[in-house]
Amino acid sequence: MKKIFFIGFMGTGKTTIGKLVSDKLNLDFIDTDSLIEERLNMPISNIFEEWGEEYFRKLEHDVICKIIKSTEGTVIATGGGTPLYHGNLQLMKNNGLVIGLNTSPKELWRRLQDCQERPLLKQYNTYKKFCKLYRNRSNIYAQAHITIKTDGKSLEEIVKEVISYVFKFF
Ligand code: S3P
Repeated sequence: MKKIFFIGFMGTGKTTIGKLVSDKLNLDFIDTDSLIEERLNMPISNIFEEWGEEYFRKLEHDVICKIIKSTEGTVIATGGGTPLYHGNLQLMKNNGLVIGLNTSPKELWRRLQDCQERPLLKQYNTYKKFCKLYRNRSNIYAQAHITIKTDGKSLEEIVKEVISYVFKFF
């Protein structure tokens, strides 16, 4: 049942770090956003526009359920909202190690400035609104099995930290 789920706010590095961890541990890697985009053959921003967020959340839940049923030895990078909907957080916690990545809102805001493709940023388009979303979600992310703070750390340091937890957990 070795599945390692990364959760955290958008821009925390779930995909980058998840991929590096999967390479180091010789595990498969899945990014749930990419899987959804492949399945519908359109970018997430278009899915939000054409069918709305609720439909996207259903697809996301479906993907999480399928991954849980049909994969072994996999690192999974989830979308920033995944643990908030349809009981996904508990599902993931019951079926693997859930690692939360925590980055300060200031750093995230800086990282996400050039990013056009994230639909939620159209709505949360000022630093104040962004921080409100960050605060509203932080108690969910804090329920991960472990949380790794990323500010001021290199990718290599973060990956090392993740791997030490993985060995303790499994
Ligand atoms: C979302 C984050 C995105 C993507 C979608 C919604 C969110 O993933 O799933 O745009 O609700 O925070 P990233 O965290 O990979 O940006």
